[in-house]
Amino acid sequence: MGQRFEGAVCLVTGGGGGIGSGTARLLAAEGAHVIIADLSQDRAQQVAGEIREMGFQASPHAVDVTSQESVDRLLDDSWRDVGPVNLAVTCAGIIKIQPFLDLPAADWDRTLAVNLKGTFLVIQGVARRLVQAGRKGRMVAVSSVAGRGARADVADYAASKAGVISIVRSSAMALAEHGMAVNAVCPGVVATEMTYAIQRMRSQDTGENPEEMLTRSVTGIPLGRIETPEDVAKAIAFLLSEDAGYVTGQALNVDGGLEFD
Ligand SMILES: NC(=O)c1ccc[n+]([C@@H]2O[C@H](COP(=O)([O-])OP(=O)(O)OC[C@H]3O[C@@H](n4cnc5c(N)ncnc54)[C@H](O)[C@@H]3O)[C@@H](O)[C@H]2O)c1
Repeated sequence: MGQRFEGAVCLVTGGGGGIGSGTARLLAAEGAHVIIADLSQDRAQQVAGEIREMGFQASPHAVDVTSQESVDRLLDDSWRDVGPVNLAVTCAGIIKIQPFLDLPAADWDRTLAVNLKGTFLVIQGVARRLVQAGRKGRMVAVSSVAGRGARADVADYAASKAGVISIVRSSAMALAEHGMAVNAVCPGVVATEMTYAIQRMRSQDTGENPEEMLTRSVTGIPLGRIETPEDVAKAIAFLLSEDAGYVTGQALNVDGGLEFD
C-alpha cells in the first residue's frame, strides 16, 4: 500500500461508526496518525486499539460535535498530543425514521445539531488552527444522496445533509486563499449499523422483514450491490490526497449510481 498520508494527522469524527472506522483504517494504513473521535468513548477506543494492533497510528478521543467546547477540547488536545491536525473527515451523524407530519421540532433540532452544526464546528475549528499556524489542510464532510433530493420520512436528515453540501461549498470558498480544500462525499446505501437501524425502524412501520427490505433496496442500485464502508473510504482518501489537489467545494456521489446529480 502506498503512503499518501505519511506524516499527516487526520481527525475522523464519528470514527467509532461504520464509515468513520473504515475511513480511519484506510488512512492509517497509508501513513496517517488518525484521531478517532466519537460520542461513544468505548467505540473510539476499540477502533483506535484495532488500528494500533495492525501496526498503524491511532488515538481515541471522546467528543460531542454539537458542542463548541467539546470540539475545541478535541482539537486542542490533538494538536498538543499528536501534532497539527491537517486532515479532517466529518462522519458523525444520526438519523431517525418518522413521517413528516409527526416529526417533532426537538428531533429536527437534534438532527441539525449533530449533522450540520457538528460539521460546521469541526471544519471551522480545524481551519482556524491551521490558518493561525500558517499551515494548509484538506477536509471531507460526509453528506448523503439524501441531501440531493426529497425524503418523506427523514426530512430533517435530508435537510441536514443538503446543509452539509452548502457549508462545504461556503467553507471551500472562504478557505481557498489559505491553501485549504473542503469537499463532500454523498454515499448511498452503506452496510453499517445506521442502515440496519433504518431497515429495522421502517420494518416496524410496514411489518416487512428488515432483511427483505434491504435486499429490495439493493435491487434498485445500478451497480447491483450494497456499498461498503471501504467504497466510501477510498473516495474520501482520494479527496484528502494530493491527487485531488485542484478539487475543492465539490460533492461527490459515491452511491453505485443511485443518483445522477
Ligand atoms: N450508512 C449509510 O447508508 C449512509 C449513507 C449516506 C450517508 N451516511 C452518513 O455517513 C456518516 C457515518 O454513518 P455510518 O453509516 O457510519 O453510521 P454509524 O451509526 O455507524 O456511525 C455514526 C457515528 O457517529 C457517532 N455520533 C453520533 N452523534 C455524535 C455526536 N454528537 N458527536 C460525535 N459523534 C457522534 C456515533 O456514535 C457513531 O459512531 C453519517 O453522517 C451518515 O449520515 C451514511
